[in-house]
Amino acid sequence: MMSSASAAANFAKGLEGIIAGETRICSIEQGGLWYRGYEIHDLAHHATFEDVAFLLLEGHKASAAEMARFKGEIVAERPLHPMVTGFIESCGGYLAAGRAVPMDVLRTAVSILGHVDPDSQDNSPEAGLRKSKRLLAKVPTIIGHMQNVIDGKAIIGRELGGDPTLDHAANLLYLMTGSRPPKEYSRVIDASLILYAEHDFNASTFTSRCIAGTLSDMHGAVTGGIAALKGSLHGGANEMAMEMLKEIMNDVGEKGIGTPAVDEWMQRAFDTKRKLMGFGHRVYKNGDHRAPILHSMGRAVAEKDTKNPGGHAAVKWFELGEQVQKIMLSKKNIHPNVDFPCGMTYFTMGIPVPQYTPIFVASRVTGWCAHVMEQHANNRIIRPLSMYTGEAARKWNG
Ligand code: COA
Repeated sequence: MMSSASAAANFAKGLEGIIAGETRICSIEQGGLWYRGYEIHDLAHHATFEDVAFLLLEGHKASAAEMARFKGEIVAERPLHPMVTGFIESCGGYLAAGRAVPMDVLRTAVSILGHVDPDSQDNSPEAGLRKSKRLLAKVPTIIGHMQNVIDGKAIIGRELGGDPTLDHAANLLYLMTGSRPPKEYSRVIDASLILYAEHDFNASTFTSRCIAGTLSDMHGAVTGGIAALKGSLHGGANEMAMEMLKEIMNDVGEKGIGTPAVDEWMQRAFDTKRKLMGFGHRVYKNGDHRAPILHSMGRAVAEKDTKNPGGHAAVKWFELGEQVQKIMLSKKNIHPNVDFPCGMTYFTMGIPVPQYTPIFVASRVTGWCAHVMEQHANNRIIRPLSMYTGEAARKWNG
């Protein structure tokens, strides 16, 4: 048995600070975030999600002709195989009753996509790219169909996977609601998809790479990524952050915003050592670069919105969120991560909370697929060690 002293020298709980592989896809530093060398502010303000998806999957900035071809390929791949639609419909009662959650149904639906994908067992780079585009195209359709069955509506886009004239973000909203969304909504969703698309060796991407590293298939790797993303310490935080804000609003009331009532709520949370969702990050210690970008875009839409989500003017949710952020920073020196503004942004646009993490999947599937292809192209099985802390060696019959 390896002595715990020699193992301890290499041990970092949660793999903190460990470099577990190489990548050319994304780089994260305290001072910035880059996708293949392009800085995240630049991308969020000047690119579209389709531009970013192409960049991540194909490895370079698309020419106009390449983008036209790519968009056509994605639109053509939007419809689902009847086996997948049938599965979603069969979950309708469970989804509507809240007994099955959209993240789990999405996970199984993606796994079923593997059964009907003609390239499912082919790990070549060409097949990897074809499968990546199909997954990218089909996840919003799954999300839309799930929302339709939850709402008790007929499936929208059964034949075409939505409206072929709409871009990815707008089509996602269309599939969920049956209405063409306002331009400012599509733009903010598009930006959120850009911000969520890739983040180097985060837990779900690392999961996907571990699966790919055994030479398993892309659908399996993405299915595993979805399972990892669901957790509240990872992508599930965007739903939990919004649930927490709703709880605070419920407790302090709209009149409590800007008053010590919110400080008192937070103090109670600190006293009970409650984790505040949408705050903190393993890598960023001075703030998540994506959070202020989404916050200001989401707030700008909320300021002009006449909607009354949860019975409060849209902007009130941002005012409450800003007060919570200020208290968290002054009392704990912990910054919000991108999931905090995401919760407020999606909520004030009327998106149902259980769909926030599935929408994260609609974006991060590009990052996962890029990493699966990178892993397959230069593979070594990922197999770390553990530090044994159990019983000393002993005899079964002794
Ligand atoms: N609320 C309250 N305290 C928090 C916190 C949060 N959201 N995030 C970190 N902390 C505290 C920890 O309790 C710890 O305090 P301690 O040293 O007194 O024990 C300290 O800050 C360091 O945090 P640590 O748990 O070591 O960070 P980590 O790198 O292991 O975990 C996260 C990172 C993201 C999992 C963690 O910050 C978290 O749970 N955040 C909430 C979930 C979330 O928003 N996830 C989305 C991430 S993008």
